[in-house]
Amino acid sequence: MPMDVLEAIRSRRSIKQFTDRPVSREEISRLLDLAVNAPNHRMTQPWRFYVLGPETRRAYGAVLGARKAKRVEDPEAAQAVLEKVAEAEAAIPATISVAMTLDENPETREEDYAATMMVVENLCLAAHGMGLGTHIKSGAVMDDPRARAAVGVPEGERIVATVHLGEPAEIPDPKPRQTAEEFTTWVP
Ligand SMILES: Cc1cc2nc3c(=O)[nH]c(=O)nc-3n(C[C@H](O)[C@H](O)[C@H](O)COP(=O)(O)O)c2cc1C
Repeated sequence: MPMDVLEAIRSRRSIKQFTDRPVSREEISRLLDLAVNAPNHRMTQPWRFYVLGPETRRAYGAVLGARKAKRVEDPEAAQAVLEKVAEAEAAIPATISVAMTLDENPETREEDYAATMMVVENLCLAAHGMGLGTHIKSGAVMDDPRARAAVGVPEGERIVATVHLGEPAEIPDPKPRQTAEEFTTWVP
């Protein structure tokens, strides 16, 4: 029986360890088709998806690794860091870089960012409903020209999240959160 949406929202976690089970192209297409039902002002459909194959996951990982290795002085140790990160990224069952188009109008651009991140949350919830786990990754690497080149993101687009996807090997406990009530003002 499909997972109830309320239960999916309640029980979704960021998954850091995946099993070796591959994620099929059909599963990814199904997820993305669900994700694009996100709300979107003026139907600009700003989202762009880059589904990274093993070669590109390794290349993207090499960029991540090179950024990490910059802090390592010894060249051999730095190379080992780079290779370890590249290997780890290549081993992730599936990775989707989610980019958005960059509208000239700042208001539209902000709304487009919001809509694209709603797509990302839909993607995470839909994956969870299908028994798959996700982990959203962000950071300065998204604007690194080497990472953009590895993924093949053209001018006029920006990566806003890179989502790891796979069958969870381990489901972490929920992260503690304050209740919404503590952040809520009931305005008369
Ligand atoms: C916009 C965004 C960016 C994130 N970037 C990272 C990241 O770069 N690295 C990381 O480990 N987790 C990242 N996360 C995942 C959060 O750390 C995670 O959602 C948080 O710890 C709460 O855990 P949960 O998702 O299991 O509830 C990101 C989440 C969001 C929404």
